Amino acid sequence: MSKFYITTPIYYVNDVPHIGHVYTTTIADIVARHHRLRGDEVFFLTGTDEHAAKVVESAAEHGMTTVQWADQNARAFQETFAKLGITNDDFIRTSQPRHKEKVQQYVGELLQSGDLYPGEYEGWYDAGQEEYVSEGKAKESEYKSPISGRPLVRKKEKNYFFRLSKYGDALLKLLEERPKFVQPDARRNEVIGRIREGLNDVPISRTGAGDWGIKVPGDSEHVIYVWIDALFNYLSTVDTSERRGLWPANVHLIAKDILWFHAVIWPAMLLALKRELPGQVYAHSFWISEGQKMSKSMGNFVDLAKIDRYVRTFGLDAFRYFLASNGPLGTTDSDFAEAKFIEVYNTDLANDLGNLLFRTLTMIEKFCGGSIQVAADVDGGLAEHAESLSRVVDEAMSELQLSRALDAIWDFVQRSNKYIEDSKPWAVAKVDAAKVGGILYSLAEADRVVSVLISPFMPATAERIQRQLGVFDGAPELRTSARWGLLRPGTKVTKGQPLFPRYDVSSGPKVR
Ligand code: MSP
Repeated sequence: MSKFYITTPIYYVNDVPHIGHVYTTTIADIVARHHRLRGDEVFFLTGTDEHAAKVVESAAEHGMTTVQWADQNARAFQETFAKLGITNDDFIRTSQPRHKEKVQQYVGELLQSGDLYPGEYEGWYDAGQEEYVSEGKAKESEYKSPISGRPLVRKKEKNYFFRLSKYGDALLKLLEERPKFVQPDARRNEVIGRIREGLNDVPISRTGAGDWGIKVPGDSEHVIYVWIDALFNYLSTVDTSERRGLWPANVHLIAKDILWFHAVIWPAMLLALKRELPGQVYAHSFWISEGQKMSKSMGNFVDLAKIDRYVRTFGLDAFRYFLASNGPLGTTDSDFAEAKFIEVYNTDLANDLGNLLFRTLTMIEKFCGGSIQVAADVDGGLAEHAESLSRVVDEAMSELQLSRALDAIWDFVQRSNKYIEDSKPWAVAKVDAAKVGGILYSLAEADRVVSVLISPFMPATAERIQRQLGVFDGAPELRTSARWGLLRPGTKVTKGQPLFPRYDVSSGPKVR
């Protein structure tokens, strides 16, 4: 058994969750569930990033204290994730004492070692993003925020700095020696290119934050810059006597927007702290919505209300399946479009998966008195295929290629459906009862294997399949092992309702 520690970004509490947050967290959940299924000791962390100046501002705009506002939004994230079946093992809020104490300790260590030092900084500041933009970038974007388009401001302040410049060579060596440290490859190349341009020391504190934030030890005016505070969450949460063995994290799952902080600043800080480095930083791409970039001004966010409509119309598992099969893991953005969703739902879920189970169970009722018969040597190659399939799925999952894992599972589903056509159980039933029992054994076992492999993606569907196959209350390995041949003759099945009723665009409820 090995340990597996996976994280998501911790989300800003100046706003409520949307599809982007839900996506990264759902993908991390699927990966965490996959590892649990393999018997790994999993720790899955998500949470909220609370000390940004914009949290103070948006609280005031809403007539609330900062704490009330942060509490309310942190709760919205927690409730949303619980509703969407997310199985995080902890939820870190950076305003919690357990985090703040540790951050002060880390910053203290870095001041001691000289990796943090007091100085003065002047540069172009993007107030919306709370970050300085390099001279080159500022010029390129005509001194406007590349994110919000608002003018950058010239800012000069006394500051504490992190000696990032000292770590350029070590980071390049790391990226060289561990090619999987930053993934996908295109992101790794981007990071290498930027490091080669040279690294400047970075300011890591700010003033004027009042009580909101974590104080630089020994300085009553400066609080630690929110990004530095936030990155430490990955370590602070497990830096306790019971959890210490979980460090280093195996995977930090993020999107491309926050790659620099995770692929450069974070490992450099860990090097400075002489802590072990995480296994991998994986930066996925972005969702857009109905062909358009999502933005406040467009008002086209796939927000919680919309997510809720999809979940109510198609079911949570269909929603999770769509995110995993069509989402932006890798380097291209994905379109969250209703027509696409419906097509995927009807083709993959209603037709392929739903029909396989429904036809198998209908025939077992009709030709075998509703119970699993003895296996026979008539499986159309399904047994062999199932065996290699588990390996392919494991491999794809370990590379975070979730859609490749699903494609492989769906090849097997389609092959099983084809086996029904080819073996014609309805004809065999008239002449050879043992043979039809054997054919249907293979099909039921194919359904069971599929249920195990899809369980991280669609846990409720996996359970329904297993209940209908009569294996849910049986030996645990029937639910967790994709090894062929575990299904026992004599097991009673129940036909039940189709898993995913076909969605008819003209008469179904509107989702948009
Ligand atoms: N608080 C920082 C992260 C600190 S981590 C130490 C932050 N928060 S955020 O609320 O803005 O969340 C950013 C993350 O949300 C992205 O990295 C990604 O995981 C997710 N997404 C936000 N918008 C997204 C899309 N449009 N598409 C996919 N995921 C996106 O940055």
